[in-house]
Amino acid sequence: MSKMADKLTPDSVAIPATDLSVYAAIYQRRMAWRFRDDPVDREVIARLLDTAVWAPNHRLTEPWRFFVLERDGETRHKVAELCYEHSLENGGKSRAEAARSKVMAPPVLIYVYSLPGDKEEVTRENYASVACAVQNMSLAAVAEGLTVTWETGRTTRHPKLRKVLGAEKDWLMVGALSIGVPDETLNPPRTPVGQFTSWL
Ligand SMILES: Cc1cc2nc3c(=O)[nH]c(=O)nc-3n(C[C@H](O)[C@H](O)[C@H](O)COP(=O)(O)O)c2cc1C
Repeated sequence: MSKMADKLTPDSVAIPATDLSVYAAIYQRRMAWRFRDDPVDREVIARLLDTAVWAPNHRLTEPWRFFVLERDGETRHKVAELCYEHSLENGGKSRAEAARSKVMAPPVLIYVYSLPGDKEEVTRENYASVACAVQNMSLAAVAEGLTVTWETGRTTRHPKLRKVLGAEKDWLMVGALSIGVPDETLNPPRTPVGQFTSWL
């Protein structure tokens, strides 16, 4: 991994300007299943990724690994075909076509993995940290007018996926992130936290 001299500190980071409050980002963040065709610039995706490594990670294991599949890239096509075949074997043609377009449609697709630890406890901590990293990206995306949709379904399950991406055998899949300008407004409700909280 990186040498000390390569490390970032909060003072060395140029924090992107935004008027959006943290609270507004939390409450406005929403996943979407349809995206506008608008492309997303690489610099914007880089800004989202920059936030990922500021997630808390116990023992500073830096357990996240990202694979960015830009639109129309060769890897995007390969993954789309894998998902098509996998869904064809496990469903039918229309499911297979839906799986293919799920991979092809989003302006940006990022696969996220978590590294295993040398014991179960560390593996779990690492996974928790990578989930925090995804949430950092998702909140930053709100400031960019983008949606991050996090999935662990069909598009993440093909046994050959890790080979196509270059992920190691023992890395844990955290999810596929579809990123773009949303073309729908969804508002899944939440139960007030009081029902899940004991103040003792
Ligand atoms: C770890 C994780 C995995 C998910 N996997 C899927 C999935 O495979 N398919 C799907 O339709 N939604 C998936 N979702 C999306 C959730 O269902 C979504 O959070 C929920 O619909 C609420 O949407 P909201 O957070 O935008 O309010 C996943 C979310 C998370 C956090």
